[in-house]
Amino acid sequence: MKTSTIRAMIAVAVLTCPQIANSAVDAEAARVLAKKEGCLKCHGIDRDKTAKSLTAIAGKFKGVADADAKLLWHITTGPKVKDLDGGEDVHDIIKTNDKSAINNLIGWIRSLAK
Ligand code: HEC
Repeated sequence: MKTSTIRAMIAVAVLTCPQIANSAVDAEAARVLAKKEGCLKCHGIDRDKTAKSLTAIAGKFKGVADADAKLLWHITTGPKVKDLDGGEDVHDIIKTNDKSAINNLIGWIRSLAK
């Protein structure tokens, strides 16, 4: 195989591999934002609280088409949700307007998938 062909294949693999794409996530910044926004009061990182853990959410959205858009919708539109203890609630809308911070948070949540 020609070197250029191999290079092109590596480029495609890098661009399409979620694990590698996730390495661009700033996990520390995302964790700080999740804490500041209060997400971690209801969602443990890897432990359920009144809501599923962020790791469980990441697992649910693994391989789902438009997962990023669905997660974004969830945290920006205030949908109705059910607590794990059966109560109903309107989901909190994220307070920051910083799009790249929100995208980083979503990328971090998705990176938690096992
Ligand atoms: C007051 C409690 C509370 C806070 C604060 C909260 N959530 Fe939630 N969240 C819930 C509940 C309850 C659900 C629905 C039940 C579940 O999925 O566990 C939910 C669902 C979700 C879902 C959809 C899960 C699915 O399975 O479709 C996402 C994504 C999510 N939350 C992310 C966040 C993020 C990010 C933050 C912080 C910006 C946040 N939540 C803050 C309680 C909360």
